[in-house]
Amino acid sequence: MEKSKNRREFLVQAGTISAGVCFFGTSAFLSACSTSKSAGSSAVSFSETADQLSIPATAFSEKNSQILHTKKYEEPLYVSKQPDGTYAALRMYCPHKGCEVNAAADRFVCPCHGSEFALDGALLKGPSKSPLQSFPVTLDQDQVIVHFK
Ligand code: FES
Repeated sequence: MEKSKNRREFLVQAGTISAGVCFFGTSAFLSACSTSKSAGSSAVSFSETADQLSIPATAFSEKNSQILHTKKYEEPLYVSKQPDGTYAALRMYCPHKGCEVNAAADRFVCPCHGSEFALDGALLKGPSKSPLQSFPVTLDQDQVIVHFK
């Protein structure tokens, strides 16, 4: 009898704890998503349409790369200013099986199966057989424009 009661108490407590984790976890997740995807409220302010992303060029004055969470893609975009003054934009999506790649100092590394990509998206190491997806980037006065294909 005592054993049954302890089990019931445990299940009630576990349910309460998991409900709390789900509530706060979901709340934090939604908060993070809304903050990172809304223009003007994240560390880097940008605007997004279905076709493009516009980032103020000043966002690259102190740091030559930005990781931006867009509405278009689940994975972030890595937008960087190149030494020659041009810009590059890469989707941080591993073409092997679709994991989000991590940005390291000199490359991108896929945590799932170990593919590696150069900072320009070129494939350095498999199992991926393709480079990271890249997007054309243009400059329009003081805006860096990433064109979704
Ligand atoms: S998903 Fe990236 S290496 Fe497999």
